[in-house]
Amino acid sequence: MTTALITGSTSGIGAAFARRLAANGHNLVLAARTTERLQEQATELHDRHGIEAQVLTADLATDRGIETVVARLSDLTSPIDLLVNNAGFGHKGRYLQVPVVDELTMLKVHCEAVLRLTSAAVEPMRERGRGAVVNVASVGAFVPRGTYGASKAWVVQFTEGAARDLSGTGVRLMALCPGFVRTEFHERAGMGVDSIPNWMWLDADKVVATALADLGRGRTVSIPDARYKTLMGLVKVTPRRLLGGITAKTGRSYGPR
Ligand SMILES: NC(=O)c1ccc[n+]([C@@H]2O[C@H](COP(=O)([O-])OP(=O)(O)OC[C@H]3O[C@@H](n4cnc5c(N)ncnc54)[C@H](OP(=O)(O)O)[C@@H]3O)[C@@H](O)[C@H]2O)c1
Repeated sequence: MTTALITGSTSGIGAAFARRLAANGHNLVLAARTTERLQEQATELHDRHGIEAQVLTADLATDRGIETVVARLSDLTSPIDLLVNNAGFGHKGRYLQVPVVDELTMLKVHCEAVLRLTSAAVEPMRERGRGAVVNVASVGAFVPRGTYGASKAWVVQFTEGAARDLSGTGVRLMALCPGFVRTEFHERAGMGVDSIPNWMWLDADKVVATALADLGRGRTVSIPDARYKTLMGLVKVTPRRLLGGITAKTGRSYGPR
């Protein structure tokens, strides 16, 4: 039986990974900040699917939280076969409206934690000649979109580069780049979502099903859903200057019209 470790497992995309992987018979290590939610989730997945689910309370905005997860990834008595670096959050507001300290927290969770956890996971995977890491980025990585987009662009670049460096070792890495997904993300950030059209919303379970299929196909970047594949194709051919204008006006003006 294989074991997957998911950060930010308690809601949204992370919870969808946990449901799907448990249904497929994987044991799980569930990591997030809220112990009670983690324990409820572990019990439910164990009872429903008969898998083992371990709970790790860890705040990835802190060194201590990162070290807790690194220690579990480095425990060779119970190796991790799949790491899903999913924990993340958004900020409401543009550059200078968000305090620098909050931007730094975002970089800690989205970049530093992803780097340290990926490195801790990949070392033993490489020795065993098998394993995989999914780093949850966003289509925001491909458009000018403040610190959030920049942090997710880092996730994509880092993952593609590391995947190339590890090719032939049996260890696969993939960046997952969803569009808008119905989760707790926007509510937690205090963003209204009334201005986002219905057609732009994705379902977390479908996003995860596509992600795991893409991982199986050996993709290093996964953009779930044809609508977003088309949009990102257009983004590639749109001049950067024009793109910045469009995303500044539309992409971040959340809230009632
Ligand atoms: N929803 C979207 O539209 C969308 C689109 C593209 C990409 N994404 C990305 O998808 C990932 C998951 O987001 P989501 O939409 O599923 O959001 P969500 O429903 O708000 O879930 C976020 C998860 O991350 C955990 N988390 C947040 N901060 C953490 C921290 N400091 N340390 C450890 N765990 C932390 C939360 O649990 P606790 O509060 O218990 O810690 C929760 O389990 C994020 O990386 C996000 O950037 C989301």
